[in-house]
Amino acid sequence: MKRDFLTLSDFSSEEIREIVDLSLNLKKERAAGKLRDEMCGKTAVLIFDKPSLRTKITFQTAIYELGGNALDMPSSNGKLGERESVYDIAKNLERWVHLLVVRTFDDNVVCELAKIAKIPVINALTDKFHPCQSIAFGVTLKEKFGDKKIKVAFVGDGNNVCASHLHYCVKAGYDFTAITPKGFGLDAQFVENGKKEAALSGSKITVTENIDEGLKNADVIYTDVWASMGQESQAQKRKEIFSSYQVNENLMKKANANAMFSHCLPAHRGDEVTDGVLDAKYSVAFDEAENRLHAHKAIIMYLLRRFQ
Ligand code: CP
Ligand code: NVA
Repeated sequence: MKRDFLTLSDFSSEEIREIVDLSLNLKKERAAGKLRDEMCGKTAVLIFDKPSLRTKITFQTAIYELGGNALDMPSSNGKLGERESVYDIAKNLERWVHLLVVRTFDDNVVCELAKIAKIPVINALTDKFHPCQSIAFGVTLKEKFGDKKIKVAFVGDGNNVCASHLHYCVKAGYDFTAITPKGFGLDAQFVENGKKEAALSGSKITVTENIDEGLKNADVIYTDVWASMGQESQAQKRKEIFSSYQVNENLMKKANANAMFSHCLPAHRGDEVTDGVLDAKYSVAFDEAENRLHAHKAIIMYLLRRFQ
């Protein structure tokens, strides 16, 4: 049966654990000079309506190292649905290639593409979710904390990365607190749904505007840009609203001693995070970026193995 990778809420805790464990195995194998060829003779098309360094390069490298071919949709075609309908794009691509990796604005567009196309579709970031990032985050947490139950605190904008990390923590049984300024939190219904699932998985979900309260007992502090791609015109206004939510050395002290820091990157150094924190020994942001490669291979293999 075809599976898509659209949001982590579509996957069980066991499935997510399997993808994370596979990522770690693939990382070890690569370090030992061993590569798999699960995409031999297969082609993926990458459709990116927004800029990307990490996601695009790691997907291209992952596909290449799995023996496959990665084609970039030319930007002269415009955004998804502009030159021809999303339906017609899906109906063409499914005849030629085996996988679609899509980054765009509206999450509904990726869902629509996945519904129409007979081939697996991966969400490489939308305004709503960034599930691939959360798998790489999960891989990094497993490397650092093993199977320990931890508390993750996300500080800043209740955005796509925050939403997918909430999903990940619920699935992994971690506690998760989103610390966001008034009016910039996660959608209330989304949080309610997360809390319901958390009650089953043994994790605790909290949302607060209070930094001190939210950071109590946190093992990991995470942040992301204050203005995401597509929100550039709000950047100055957001800078003023978010300034007290900057992750700096003082803010780090409010969490557990030895707390870890991470960021999905790109970072706006001096805004949401200081150089001192991003470059500190306790920062694993670049380890997480490295893990994007292994996570993407695992996601691809997981989907293709179920779609023969
Ligand atoms: N973290 C992340 O998705 O980075 P890019 O936008 O560079 O792909
Ligand atoms: N929230 C950010 C994440 C970038 C990887 C954005 O959507 O721009």
